[in-house]
Amino acid sequence: MPHRLTAALHAAAVICCCASAGCDWPWKHDMVDQPSLQTATSPRPPAAGAVSTAGEPRINRTMAEHTLHNPRAGAPPTDQGRALYSSYCSPCHGIGGLGDGPVTRFFVPAGDLTSATIQQHSDGWIYATITNGTARMPRQGTELSRDERWEIVNVVRAFGARRP
Ligand code: HEC
Repeated sequence: MPHRLTAALHAAAVICCCASAGCDWPWKHDMVDQPSLQTATSPRPPAAGAVSTAGEPRINRTMAEHTLHNPRAGAPPTDQGRALYSSYCSPCHGIGGLGDGPVTRFFVPAGDLTSATIQQHSDGWIYATITNGTARMPRQGTELSRDERWEIVNVVRAFGARRP
């Protein structure tokens, strides 16, 4: 009899283990594994082929280079523009735009915004870069309004003007 009891207990233990492995118990989840957005991620981009009816149309840099017009073209950067640049860009690109922000010590080198490689492009190209991001630069199309992005474009332009 005790033999049978032990066998039954063993069988019960095995069944419990198998059941708990297959079941979705609440204690199997960490709060970190949840569908909320991680820090500095944007809401999901629209599905491929989706057509925007109200929002800003999506535009790539090559097209933006020649078609987008800066509403404040040639204007000096404003205090608001500088403040936005220092919050959204300087951590990687540095206060002076040289690509020496504190984050680069732990990340890949960020572009030197004063360089001819970047300054040769039009305001529209810089605007589209901010809007869409790059492979390793976060996109700001939803975080910053159009005006705010153009304000930042003028800050980046001023970096070029300062270069001899
Ligand atoms: C998290 C770091 C990070 C932040 C924040 C960031 N960038 Fe960048 N940026 C990069 C990196 C890295 C590159 C180089 C391209 C790459 O590796 O994807 C880059 C490239 C660029 C380029 C050149 C694009 C190219 O293809 O070479 C421009 C212009 C630029 N950034 C402007 C900005 C502006 C303006 C802001 C603020 C709105 C900003 N970036 C914020 C990391 C960042």
